[in-house]
Amino acid sequence: MAGNSFGQIFKVLTFGESHSPYVGVVIDGLKPNLEINLDEIQKELDRRKPGQSEITTQRKESDKIQIISGIFEGKTTGTPICILIKNEDTKPSDYENIKNIFRPGHGGYTFLKKYGIYDYRGGGRISGRETVSRVVAGAIAKQLLNARGIKVLAYTKKIGNIEAAEFNESEIEKNVVRTPDSEAAKKMIELINQTKNEGDSIGGIVEVKVAGLGAGYGEPVFDKLEADLAKALMSIGSVRGFEIGVGFKCAEMKGSECNDEFRINPKTNEIETITNNSGGIQGGISNGAEIIFRIAVKPTSSISKTQKSVTIDGKEVEFNIKGRHDPCICPRIVPVAEAMTALVLIDHILMQEQIKSSVNTDEMKFKELELIDLQMLLLMKKRLDLIREVSDSIQEESNYSYVSINQLKDSWIQNSKELGLDDDLSENIFKLLSKIR
Ligand SMILES: Cc1cc2nc3c(=O)[nH]c(=O)nc-3n(C[C@H](O)[C@H](O)[C@H](O)COP(=O)(O)O)c2cc1C
Repeated sequence: MAGNSFGQIFKVLTFGESHSPYVGVVIDGLKPNLEINLDEIQKELDRRKPGQSEITTQRKESDKIQIISGIFEGKTTGTPICILIKNEDTKPSDYENIKNIFRPGHGGYTFLKKYGIYDYRGGGRISGRETVSRVVAGAIAKQLLNARGIKVLAYTKKIGNIEAAEFNESEIEKNVVRTPDSEAAKKMIELINQTKNEGDSIGGIVEVKVAGLGAGYGEPVFDKLEADLAKALMSIGSVRGFEIGVGFKCAEMKGSECNDEFRINPKTNEIETITNNSGGIQGGISNGAEIIFRIAVKPTSSISKTQKSVTIDGKEVEFNIKGRHDPCICPRIVPVAEAMTALVLIDHILMQEQIKSSVNTDEMKFKELELIDLQMLLLMKKRLDLIREVSDSIQEESNYSYVSINQLKDSWIQNSKELGLDDDLSENIFKLLSKIR
């Protein structure tokens, strides 16, 4: 099966299914001796794990990480990192009665068409369980980003028609829906519970912000930063939309409203945009403003309401899904969205760092020296031509030309002092230059 790996330098491969003994991740491409805080990885997994509240699936998983390779005494060894997480609370019996029925909104039918076989237990590979591996890799990526002063933050912006009106960052992890508005949180929880009691599920919007990235990260063509983010975020099960900055609203705007005009920040003296309609990325490259985008999360496809479907052998049926499902995926997708964002950013940063270090090799420096020498020779030739012209005039008005040459010498010495060059050295160079006739 293709498409199980992600990233160009920080390479991630995830494996395992909803009902396999383990899920896990292999991370390749990290330098040795990077400090990795295992507690931080566990903390991120605890944010994602099921059974955290009444509005998430009641599957109970401890999600404890097992380091198989690549990390020794809290540091990367430079070899592939492999981390396993046990699936402890699988319940294949929940799927027994629907194993031959295609669940609407799920991938059973498309999987069967593609592979001729599929694991009906909990969605197999397309289960939300696979995102455990992403969160582990993302937690490592986040640590590398934090060390560079970059912060990734996601939260629930909207559930159904209830939207967070306030942005209070400290509220996000205090409520089970993970929204920055405590009042909206109460209404969202009420709506999720009401929907769940009706045997249904509900969708929502998760917003992601990145602070501290700075300008100059991303690529201008196929690997645009927003394109890589869109792919990463859209690869999470149940994500059906991605928009950055003003997003789809740009279609209703005029250029004069949508353009992010520039100014000089009076404190930092740096160029910045006055507005941030582009969401911090222009021409595929970060512009230094906060990166801000949103994903649309569909309502969970497994609902207990009666639905119409078709069996593998082609019979139309009406059926109900039993088992433990998230009535709304948004709260659990928040850490996954942060993880995928972190993976994209660290990969682009590492690529950029590689470009910079290759530019600074000795070979490149000698090439630059060669270029400077050529420029100096060209200038010497130009100077020589001019001196010859001046020599002609010396014969006509010797006094005037002599004064001018002395002025040249004075300003040479003065300029050389201002540049902090050695006095003797620059005077000798001037003497040599003057000899060339
Ligand atoms: C964290 C997380 C939890 C999920 N929980 C469930 C769930 O309990 N039940 C379900 O049917 N789908 C769940 N999904 C969604 C499925 O993975 C996915 O939507 C489904 O397989 C169809 O894929 P698609 O939406 O990409 O087409 C979850 C997804 C994520 C990321």
